[in-house]
Amino acid sequence: MLLIPKTKSSRTLWSWLQYLTYFRLIPISVGILCVLCVLQRHRLESDSFYITANVWKQNVSNSLLPGCKSLINGDQTAVSRWATYSGFSVEELLRMTSGDCSLLKERIHFPNKPLTEEEEQFPLAYGMVVYKNPEQVIRQLSAFYWPQNLYCITYDQKSSASFARIIRNLAENCFNNVIVPEKQYRMEWCSKGQLLATRSCVESLNSRTDHPWKYFQYLSGFDLPLRTNYEMVQIMKVLNGSSDSVLRAVPHHDYSKNWTNIPGNLTPLKGSMSVTFSRATTDAILKDQIATEYFEYLLKTNETKYIEDMCPDEAYWTTVLYNDPIIKLPHKTVGEQCIKQLKSNRFNLKKRKSDISRYQTWLEDLAMWNINGAKWKVATNCHGKYFRYSCVFGIGDLPILVKKPHLVAHKLYLDYQPTAYFCLNEWLRNRTYNQPKFDVSIYKRLIDVRYAQANGEERDNIECFA
Ligand SMILES: *[C@@H]1O[C@H](CO)[C@@H](O)[C@H](O)[C@H]1NC(C)=O
Ligand SMILES: *[C@@H]1O[C@H](CO)[C@@H](O)[C@H](O)[C@H]1NC(C)=O
Ligand SMILES: *[C@@H]1O[C@H](CO)[C@@H](O)[C@H](O)[C@H]1NC(C)=O
Ligand SMILES: *[C@@H]1O[C@H](CO)[C@@H](O)[C@H](O)[C@H]1NC(C)=O
Ligand SMILES: *[C@@H]1O[C@H](CO)[C@@H](O)[C@H](O)[C@H]1NC(C)=O
Repeated sequence: MLLIPKTKSSRTLWSWLQYLTYFRLIPISVGILCVLCVLQRHRLESDSFYITANVWKQNVSNSLLPGCKSLINGDQTAVSRWATYSGFSVEELLRMTSGDCSLLKERIHFPNKPLTEEEEQFPLAYGMVVYKNPEQVIRQLSAFYWPQNLYCITYDQKSSASFARIIRNLAENCFNNVIVPEKQYRMEWCSKGQLLATRSCVESLNSRTDHPWKYFQYLSGFDLPLRTNYEMVQIMKVLNGSSDSVLRAVPHHDYSKNWTNIPGNLTPLKGSMSVTFSRATTDAILKDQIATEYFEYLLKTNETKYIEDMCPDEAYWTTVLYNDPIIKLPHKTVGEQCIKQLKSNRFNLKKRKSDISRYQTWLEDLAMWNINGAKWKVATNCHGKYFRYSCVFGIGDLPILVKKPHLVAHKLYLDYQPTAYFCLNEWLRNRTYNQPKFDVSIYKRLIDVRYAQANGEERDNIECFA
């Protein structure tokens, strides 16, 4: 006797119950329901990061992780329960990025069309220098990703074969707007490999003449955006051709340690790898004779010296971006004013030009520059931990991060207080799809922007290191 209902009308509750009983489905269904109830209760009660992270892994378009909103508002009561995240294995990531990458795109959110026409008309370019932790790289890409933009990723020559495979898969299988240059470099901290890698990405991106990207930003492997793509576009429009970089004097800028015979008599400036500049500027730098000679000069310089002064990539971009008119740039930069002011007070190492490219905090400067003798003062601007004097942001930094005007936060680790990472990402996602009114006045006040618009006398009054 098999009670499968023959017609639609005969599908009464009774016949279904008989059917379920026959196949012993009632106990099974009740069992499944109970498990779901327990899970749901657990989820509601514990606010557990594991469960939400798994949901998030499966379907990223769900709402903000429970608890993020209060964390962002500074209520840290849930902290201790949100300690670890045991993401995807390398094997999973290899599988997810093979074939047509549909598995990857199912698990991690990559938008497949521009959000607004304005963003579509103003594509951006990003360069990323990465070493390890492939899941973090992919999540970082996802956080910055829009199909109209162009991305270049270079990885350390010493990275594992599987890491390299995953990164190359992103370009070969997953996204036609991701470039991985053929050649990779050895990237010790503060090494020439960094400089070679950053310049190779800029070259690769610029050589894509079929792609109309308008502004470029450099990212490390541990950044997360603080601005939505829409906001990035608004900011780049305010920059209107100007560059953005931190800028300061070279420590020990007394030339006693071989800062001699600098091509074009450039004034070396210390910046950071995180720089933002327009495509016209990119093109100008790549074509400029002195910028190229300076690049080669840095490659020839004794590497040991860099560690004491600055890293090669920190020595390059800011110097060529702000040394006009020696470097032939498409427009006047505030660099000429900053250099004038630096030269009149060149040993004040604490002075730095403001920037919005990235938000990063350091161990107190005094401790940094006097590593042996200094009392290591822990700054109050870091609620996470320090790695190489620089803060890895934690949960306690969220309320600060969401108020910063910068383009990206540097740095966050997926495996250090992962809640901070996921909540910041979710905050941004919510902002992306519920875009609040965005006020650009703070960017209009950047001295790079003001200088470009000012006339002679106003220019002289601009204080570079205020
Ligand atoms: C993800 O969630 C959204 C909204 O809750 C839903 O519309 C969509 O179908 C889900 N996608 C997948 C792959 O489950
Ligand atoms: C932007 O730059 C262009 C060309 O350099 C200039 O003509 C224009 O006035 C600038 N716009 C603003 C708002 O400064
Ligand atoms: C400076 O450079 C010269 C040649 O480039 C080299 O012979 C010399 O050892 C260098 N001095 C220092 C202190 O690095
Ligand atoms: C580089 O400089 C360091 C000290 O500044 C010196 O000990 C080393 O021998 C130099 N190396 C080369 C290849 O010149
Ligand atoms: C998402 O963004 C909207 C608009 O900015 C805001 O009102 C809302 O509180 C945010 N939601 C969460 C969960 O943070």
